[in-house]
Amino acid sequence: MSMKNIISHWINERFEVEKIKGPLKKQLEKPLPGHVSWFHTLGSMSFFLFISQVLTGILLLVYYRPTVDEAFQSVKFITTQAYMGWLYRQIHAWGANLMIIIVFLHMLRTFVTGSFKKPREITWIIGVFLFILTLVFGFTGYLLPWNQLAYWATTVGTEIAGAIPFVGEWIKTLLRGGPNVGGETLSRFFVVHVIILPWAVFFLIAIHLFFVRWQGIATMDPVDQAKEPKPEKSIPFFPHHALKEGIVFFILLGWMITLSVLMPFELGEVANPLVTPLAIKPEWYFLPMYQVIKYFSKLAGIFVVSLAPLFLLVWPFLDKSKERHPLKRPVSMTIGVLVVFSLLFFGFLGHFSESKRRILGKEYEFDIYGKPHVVSGDGIQQEGKK
Ligand code: HEM
Repeated sequence: MSMKNIISHWINERFEVEKIKGPLKKQLEKPLPGHVSWFHTLGSMSFFLFISQVLTGILLLVYYRPTVDEAFQSVKFITTQAYMGWLYRQIHAWGANLMIIIVFLHMLRTFVTGSFKKPREITWIIGVFLFILTLVFGFTGYLLPWNQLAYWATTVGTEIAGAIPFVGEWIKTLLRGGPNVGGETLSRFFVVHVIILPWAVFFLIAIHLFFVRWQGIATMDPVDQAKEPKPEKSIPFFPHHALKEGIVFFILLGWMITLSVLMPFELGEVANPLVTPLAIKPEWYFLPMYQVIKYFSKLAGIFVVSLAPLFLLVWPFLDKSKERHPLKRPVSMTIGVLVVFSLLFFGFLGHFSESKRRILGKEYEFDIYGKPHVVSGDGIQQEGKK
């Protein structure tokens, strides 16, 4: 008997693996609808990035110290001294940014193909929580290096929470662990970032994937008229779709390494509560929200911004037409396009706001609303083009 046979015989004698071989094979070769494409790898890309974050996060934990005195130095040590430390720190930072983009695109894909409709409403709702938690991952992780940018972005971010009526002060103090961002905030964010969120996301992903497997990938047929994928028009999960997933994993890994080498995230200066930087901005993925809040009073702004996740959660119950095909859902598609464009629009406004830039040979100063003002040669501001 070959070694492989000896091992499988040994296991079979104890666990009767033969019994589950059939169902397992059926699962692996499960037919997927014919329209399943590269866009259907976005979910597994999100999963891949989550696993990559967990692995690089564990490596970071070896040297990271979550205290005010040591945090910055420990990250500096990781980037300059630890073996391959610079690489796994950069892959973790780039992975976080890519994960937000990929999870968002996956959400967009399931929105466009109407996959969130009956019977997959709960899969969508769990997805919305996963999207929100991915953002919270970003918010809490950003503080951990304890540099100037992180310190002040967190100060502003938690300040916004303070403006919520009645419970705002309480939430702000709960987040900060005191009146200001300090050592208490750092340890709270650390616990949320490395213990609570990873497990919460892990369990939500497990339920999400269980539902996806149980109900099968949505066809493009209208609600309640789904037909079993015809054998001649379907694609087996393994090897066809699994191969596509393998390919995108390699591309993602290649991207993360390339970006880490060519465009590394700088650590900057250690946090200093006494020196406020000129323009404080959150991470790019919070910019649209941050910018919208500027146009309203704080309270109205928070109200407008908190409507977004609420709408996402109840969306399957608002978009009730039976059609799944995007061309047969013109109203939903128009809303989707408008939302994506306004995210980009306010994101760019937020990016340009409170900065000076030279565009086509002219110097512009963008005010906090993102409105450009031409700065003349002698540095005096003039009313800019609108
Ligand atoms: C960490 C985050 C997430 C992971 C790891 C994940 C993973 C997956 C995977 C692997 C699939 C099956 C393949 C595919 O359609 O790409 C899937 C399907 C699905 N996901 Fe997610 N997902 C995440 C977040 C989200 C979000 C944010 C939403 C929407 C708000 C969402 C809604 C859905 C829906 C409705 C399906 C069913 C698609 C269909 O049947 O065609 N997911 N997810």
